Amino acid sequence: MCGIVCYSGKNAAKDVILEGLERLEYRGYDSAGLSVIEKGKLFTAKRSGKLSNLKLALLDHPLEANIGIGHIRWATHGAPTDLNAHPHLSNDKNIALVHNGIIENFHELKEKLIKEGYHFTSSTDTEVIAVLLEKYYEGDLLEAVKKVRKILKGSYALGIIAQSEPDRLVCVRCESPLVMGLAGGDVLVASDIPSILKYTNKLIYLENGDLLDVKDGYQIYDIDDNKVDREIKEVSWSLEAASKEGFDHFMEKEIFEQPRAIEDCLRNKLVDGKIDLGDASFTKEELRNFNKVYIVACGTASYAGNIGKYAIEKFAQIPVVNELASEFRYNNHFIDEKTLLILVSQSGETADTLAALREGKRKKATTLVVTNVLASSIDREADKSVYCLAGPEIAVASTKAYTTQVMSLYILALDFALKLKKITEKEVEEILKEVSKLPGKIQEILDNTDPIKEFANEIKDASSVFYIGRGLDYYSVIEGALKLKEVSYIHSEALAAGELKHGTLALIEEGSPVIAVATQENIMDKTFSNIEEVRARGAKVFTICGENAEKLENVSYKSYKLPQTIDSLYPILAVIPEQLLAYYTSGAKGLDVDKPRNLAKSVTVE
Ligand code: G6P
Repeated sequence: MCGIVCYSGKNAAKDVILEGLERLEYRGYDSAGLSVIEKGKLFTAKRSGKLSNLKLALLDHPLEANIGIGHIRWATHGAPTDLNAHPHLSNDKNIALVHNGIIENFHELKEKLIKEGYHFTSSTDTEVIAVLLEKYYEGDLLEAVKKVRKILKGSYALGIIAQSEPDRLVCVRCESPLVMGLAGGDVLVASDIPSILKYTNKLIYLENGDLLDVKDGYQIYDIDDNKVDREIKEVSWSLEAASKEGFDHFMEKEIFEQPRAIEDCLRNKLVDGKIDLGDASFTKEELRNFNKVYIVACGTASYAGNIGKYAIEKFAQIPVVNELASEFRYNNHFIDEKTLLILVSQSGETADTLAALREGKRKKATTLVVTNVLASSIDREADKSVYCLAGPEIAVASTKAYTTQVMSLYILALDFALKLKKITEKEVEEILKEVSKLPGKIQEILDNTDPIKEFANEIKDASSVFYIGRGLDYYSVIEGALKLKEVSYIHSEALAAGELKHGTLALIEEGSPVIAVATQENIMDKTFSNIEEVRARGAKVFTICGENAEKLENVSYKSYKLPQTIDSLYPILAVIPEQLLAYYTSGAKGLDVDKPRNLAKSVTVE
């Protein structure tokens, strides 16, 4: 998500930090800032927009400082403004800090601190940490950090300095990554290795819960504040390899980030295990006023919308129309003030989706966006926003944005259902229990990629690949087929399994690869018959199924078992092998998987 670079050493901190931040620019960000201690005084500069804005602001400041913290921000709480950029300062301007991650309990902490007389200048969750540090500071930054970290809930990597202790840098790692580089006596600490590589390849990967105190050397403490030694590792990564964190491509990295992305996505939607969408919530009365719900989006986002439609219809029992934005913008005959228009957009900038939003607003619909980019155009113009928090997605083919869009839409649907009393608290609790297990189950799939690689090798020369499924599985195969065609250029088509006999079965011939997704208990037998149908015409069927599907395995050429979950959540698991199949097939064909021909990450023209 955001990027952190901290430095303590002999060189000019400003230069080391700016250079380190430059190495993270490729991921996208919306603002940047740094704090250094120069001649005993804390100096801070921060600017929204590109790093060049910050550099410009620093032109008149040579800054003779050897210690400092820097940050590029990718907004999650509060718009990308100068004020919301990091570092954030304590009220007394003694302490400055940079933060990656999300503080889940910042609302309550902030309210409490305000009552105690502290004030806030930003709308970030981060400023709460700076103010808390001031509250607990008694002349020893390390001790204050030890106390404050026990109060914080969520994920965070922090870099902290204090004017009153000008030779000290304190860093903490809780869930969000932080790595330390040792260059002679100099210490660099960063969220990402590329920021460190120019200076050293000797790294210490801080472990979860580690606290680092840099002052006359360094000392690491574990989660229980015990002194620990961590192994120094020498890496031989090139800068490019380091940007991808050792993965060959961004698409692979982003597929493998999904357990984490789902966890982050849930972080700002659940409070103490209960759904709380904050400003994005509707009241019961508002929900009752809607007599139509549209979900409108493009590409993969629109396929996430299919599952959103299913979830809202199943849980909240409101009929939903899911429509492509390019169609909706010219074809919206029933929109009025009783319409809820949900837009789904990773980038928040897609021209057709933006136009659909404006058209909806013009006709007085209430609008809500599910997006990954805070302060994007659609986010700014929609009435309400639900953030996916997948982190920057760089590969053109969307993966982690899709699963977090689906996750967000599920939570939205459950929230509607609860307010409309279509579901009980107990039922939601049961579903959320399963939801909380999804990251671990996605990880299980990611740990078992060999069968998918093998199948990718078998289909790489196919002229067509067909995907079949019914119900929710049909929605999963639509996305699977799109993934394959986007990155492998193989003609792939998703067929509703029940429709085969009405025409599409004519396409199946000896050796046709068919991917069947069959996870839904109530239609398992039907899908079984459809697999038999295509198999009888010579198809090689690769079935992605739930754990109890021996029957399906017996009729399949090959099969892949997903970990068990409840039927309604299977789309989040079923898509993972499909993404991997697309990725490995593209690799087997030697294609540029991150930048497929003719496609763009964000389509800002009609
Ligand atoms: C492009 C991308 C797709 C994406 C679609 C919608 O076509 O290549 O991956 O699904 O735009 O983008 P959005 O940013 O609105 O989700």
